[in-house]
Amino acid sequence: MQNFDYQTPTRLIFGKGVVEKLPEVMGQFGKKILLTYGGGSIKKIGLYDKVKELLKDFEIYELSDIQPNPKYDPSVLDGVKICKENNIDVILAVGGGSVLDCSKAIATGAKYDGDPWDLISYKAFATDSIPIVDIITLAATGSEYDSGGVISRTETNDKIGYIDPHNFPLVSFLDPTYTFTVSKKQTAAGCADAMNHIMEQYFCEDSTILNDGFMEAGLKSLMVNAKKCLENPEDYTARAEMMLTCTYGCNGIYSLGNSQTGWPLHGMEHALSAYYDITHGEGLAIITPRWMEHVLSEKTVDRFVKYGVNVFGIDANQDKFEIAKKAIQATYDFFVSVGIPMNLKAVGIDESRIDEMAHHVAVNEGLDKAWAPLTEKDIADIFRASL
Ligand code: NZQ
Ligand code: ZN
Repeated sequence: MQNFDYQTPTRLIFGKGVVEKLPEVMGQFGKKILLTYGGGSIKKIGLYDKVKELLKDFEIYELSDIQPNPKYDPSVLDGVKICKENNIDVILAVGGGSVLDCSKAIATGAKYDGDPWDLISYKAFATDSIPIVDIITLAATGSEYDSGGVISRTETNDKIGYIDPHNFPLVSFLDPTYTFTVSKKQTAAGCADAMNHIMEQYFCEDSTILNDGFMEAGLKSLMVNAKKCLENPEDYTARAEMMLTCTYGCNGIYSLGNSQTGWPLHGMEHALSAYYDITHGEGLAIITPRWMEHVLSEKTVDRFVKYGVNVFGIDANQDKFEIAKKAIQATYDFFVSVGIPMNLKAVGIDESRIDEMAHHVAVNEGLDKAWAPLTEKDIADIFRASL
């Protein structure tokens, strides 16, 4: 077991109707709020009106139209400008992971004198930030309980995932009823994303019985509940368990004391969604079984056996490579069963930029140090196998 230093400052307020506590919570941070949201889903589900009504005694500024794979320019830069010009006390992010990630970059960027991109690209480190509160409306990223943020910069094909303790929201409201309207596509993609957050921690050198059990249960919970949510989008119990399982995703709690893995699937997928603006969870699902096949070896096989036996119930009394291959097939079949298009061509990606993307990943993501190290050629091979 490895040493670790762990702290999560986020207060989680979970369940039906919890948003009623919003005025009391926001009041702790001040009067001037920047309300951030995406392309309009929060208006369709009535949450925008609800928030405005609850916060009628506050001074509210707004930043709307934050897109999936949130953009540095205009969204982050516009938000920083509003905060600086109006001396904003607190940011309230209402929406999916993209809205929250954008808000995280605004929160630190507004307290920094230089170019906010410095903080995203680790050229500088934040020393202060505006407090962040969120109402998360999509079960997927776990951004509501973590210090990560992912921001895209179109002109350089960058999609950078970075970690900064200032990125932790101070309060996250999780009401599963707000996820009833999430489309089948986004429900499946959210499930695939959250499964990948677990896999990125599970496939490692050094783990514990405790962490393996927690992660295996997380994977089973996601698969069972995603299916239920697809069958009946208003199944509260399924939406609720899915939401909480997703929330744990990137917080580190699943793998305290485990060895590092390098998060290879995210390193590769971020290039796909940077170059082609695809849905993050779909990109992950497509490359996952191809990555598994590519890295399966005498050195890694035991981990795939454990995964196959404990997550998919594959009979343990077989050749270990047989079990591993069945586990990989079961992973692929699950993603097909929830409706994810399982090849890159189906999401608009062809051969033309594969070498360029593989080079970008090899230079920027450090995957030569991953649990199963990947060279630029390995990355290109995995992309090609995913076509
Ligand atoms: O923009 P609106 O109109 O709100 O619609 C959104 C968007 O079109 C819609 N949506 C959200 N809640 C809804 C809803 N539609 C109906 N009903 C609701 N209740 O869903 C679409 C996708 O939203 P988005 O926020 O992009 O999805 P997600 O939460 O999956 O976030 C994806 C982003 O998070 C990053 C990804 O790379 C991607 O940029 N990630 C962030 C992480 C983190 N901070 O820890 C970790 C992840 O690995 C991930 O990389
Ligand atoms: Zn992810």
